[in-house]
Amino acid sequence: MSFTTIERQAPVRIYRSKLFVPGSKTNFFEKAAAGPADCVCLDLEDAVAPADKDKARDNVVAALNDVDWKGKIVTVRINGLDTTWCYKDVIALVEKGGEKLDAIMIPKVANAKDVYAIDWLMTQCSQNAGRRKKIGIEVIIESVLGLKNIDEIAASSKRMETLHFGAADYAASQGMRTTNIGGGNADYVMLTDKDEADRRERHWNDLWHYPLFKLVQAARAHGLVAIDGPFGDYQDPDGFRAQANRTAILGCEGKWAIHPSQVELCNEIFTPPEKEVARAQAILDSMKDAHNTGSGAASLNGVLIDAASIRQAEVIVKQMAMIREKGK
Ligand code: GLV
Ligand code: MG
Repeated sequence: MSFTTIERQAPVRIYRSKLFVPGSKTNFFEKAAAGPADCVCLDLEDAVAPADKDKARDNVVAALNDVDWKGKIVTVRINGLDTTWCYKDVIALVEKGGEKLDAIMIPKVANAKDVYAIDWLMTQCSQNAGRRKKIGIEVIIESVLGLKNIDEIAASSKRMETLHFGAADYAASQGMRTTNIGGGNADYVMLTDKDEADRRERHWNDLWHYPLFKLVQAARAHGLVAIDGPFGDYQDPDGFRAQANRTAILGCEGKWAIHPSQVELCNEIFTPPEKEVARAQAILDSMKDAHNTGSGAASLNGVLIDAASIRQAEVIVKQMAMIREKGK
């Protein structure tokens, strides 16, 4: 290990599924609270029409106080810093939103100053309201500036907990020629060389690999949690599954559900598969035996394992232990 260690700043909890509920749709609140999502995000931003913004804010403040959220992580996505709703959202949520509010999600963050401004306002309002619980900050990386400045954003505040990737706004910001939110694009392909029969295969590439890899790396480097954002086609569970599996393998701890049907998929995919957990446990057991006999490495089913294998295996075993604990 390096002499520089990373302290986890994000609370240790389960983030597998984050169900988005428009703040204007009060009839969905109780259902979301009773459902299987680990986290609920009440949205004041893009899912709410401009004419409904003030009403939605009132709805959300009332729901934070009155709904039984059944131990879920409850966060609210506020409007962006370039709107005149933003400061009103923060003041209302922090001064009147009650102790259940776990975190405020800031969209379209471009640099550390954006987070600083919201943190300052949250701190003033918290003191004014005599809040006991610290409210966290979640940031959506969904612009070219946000991705470019991701390290300073991740390090910008003691309130920072999670980084989220917003594929739709990101694509727009970069001028990407795609309209499929978080999904594939049939034209973003490589062609293999011709084989003996003159055939060529089309291999789809992952449009989102670079920003997501960078996001997970920045989150981990600053002790935060990385969460994958929306997958727009909620009638395509296979496409969702493929995208979510890739980001789970990269190190994301969860993904957004923009439709209730995506919640169970998130919970399933962001729970390590039984086979992986069993293998990770076997690695830990074999290495314990190896250490007891004074050896630094061992072999499991013909494959070499060593101290690095222990660290990999521990990630999976710890994650599973937390999920089992929550399921109790
Ligand atoms: C989410 O906010 C997105 O833009 O994809
Ligand atoms: Mg967005």
